[in-house]
Amino acid sequence: MNHKPIEGFSKLSKQHKIDWLINEYLQGNQEYQKILQQYWNDNPDLQKLHEEFSENTITNFYMPYGIAPNFLIDGKLMALPMAVEESSVVAAASKSAKFWLERGGFKTTIINTEKLGHTHFIFKVEAHKLLHFFNFTLKKKLFEATEDITANMRKRGGGILDIKLIDKTSELADYYQLKASFNTVDSMGANFINSCLEQFGKTLKDEVAQSDAFSEDEKNSLQIVMNILSNFTPDCIVRAEVSCKIDDLKDDSGISNEEFAWKFKQAVTIAEIEPYRATTHNKGIMNGVDAVVIATGNDFRATEACAHAYASKDGKYKSLTHCTTDNGIFRFWIDLPISVGVVGGLTNLHPLVKFSLALLGKPSAQELMSILAVSGLAQNFAALRSLVTTGIQKGHMKMHLFNILNQFGATEEEKQYFVNYFKDKTVSHHEVISELEKLRKK
Ligand code: MEV
Repeated sequence: MNHKPIEGFSKLSKQHKIDWLINEYLQGNQEYQKILQQYWNDNPDLQKLHEEFSENTITNFYMPYGIAPNFLIDGKLMALPMAVEESSVVAAASKSAKFWLERGGFKTTIINTEKLGHTHFIFKVEAHKLLHFFNFTLKKKLFEATEDITANMRKRGGGILDIKLIDKTSELADYYQLKASFNTVDSMGANFINSCLEQFGKTLKDEVAQSDAFSEDEKNSLQIVMNILSNFTPDCIVRAEVSCKIDDLKDDSGISNEEFAWKFKQAVTIAEIEPYRATTHNKGIMNGVDAVVIATGNDFRATEACAHAYASKDGKYKSLTHCTTDNGIFRFWIDLPISVGVVGGLTNLHPLVKFSLALLGKPSAQELMSILAVSGLAQNFAALRSLVTTGIQKGHMKMHLFNILNQFGATEEEKQYFVNYFKDKTVSHHEVISELEKLRKK
């Protein structure tokens, strides 16, 4: 079916947008109006707030918001807010939290908090001439020109840390960068960084125009291609770790502690050397990270992009987590580069984001980095624990089955019966109930 393009869609009222969509794409079926409408909030102010987060909004898209309690992080007991649609993620996090609560909890270290951005430009000059100009004229001017923009950030203890000239001409003709590093304190800092970088672009252009170090042809060759932060922040990085004696690893799956530790380490090593497995392994880590990133109003596309770029930093895509089992000690950790904020963006606007941050004790951006790394590590621990013991499907099915049986107050014998019954079948709510009725009538 061919459809007509529309002019000025963004200018239509919400209702007119919906009417147009239903007529143009949904055969005029008014049932779709009801579907959209049932997700509108009764409170018009709250509804308007959500509509204004984005553009062309016609309704809200719900995401389950769950809690994973019992996280002992650097000695503090926390309940993590998780916004995620995938079943088992919150349960896995909670299970891991409980496991490590009894073994000293999670420890974290902020390794660095430096963020990056670039002015990318093309300039047909000899590199040494440009470097001289950068070192003796431009660099100082770049700092001066951004003083107004950085004033508030400097008051909060942040600002521009350094600016470097990078010669990229071996990869692309006449391509250079101004590579700047920033401390954005408690904000993610995207607007701050991009404002500084846009000013760098202007200052570079002005200073080159005024300089007598370059010929007219050289001056005319300067093209500022773009000024933009990098979501790859390998130096904004946190480590989260857990450790315990292998003797204390006690697992309920029936395998010995030694076998569990050995298999677990093998699983991590496989993800360190095999990109196919590393992708799924890291996806599982990001199940935990993103759920908290979303609940705290941060940008999960940025955290995803950064994590995966970091996973490939050695030229091959690898696991973000690592494990050792030396001298009878099981140690498992993640180095997670992640740039997040607890001020600015949605943090002061979205009521549930405010709730999440309050629940976490109003963390600083660094504390939030730690929480996120822990959430990723916990999620990976739970996934690998299942994978190397019972297998992931059995775990999912069992958990679902036990939830249903518990609702009906099933006895241990009944539970055992159902574990056998569903050995080779997918659990369904309906089947559990009808089979339980039959069993109880016997
Ligand atoms: C599913 O969302 C994530 C897992 O596949 C992760 C993993 O395999 O490590 C369970």
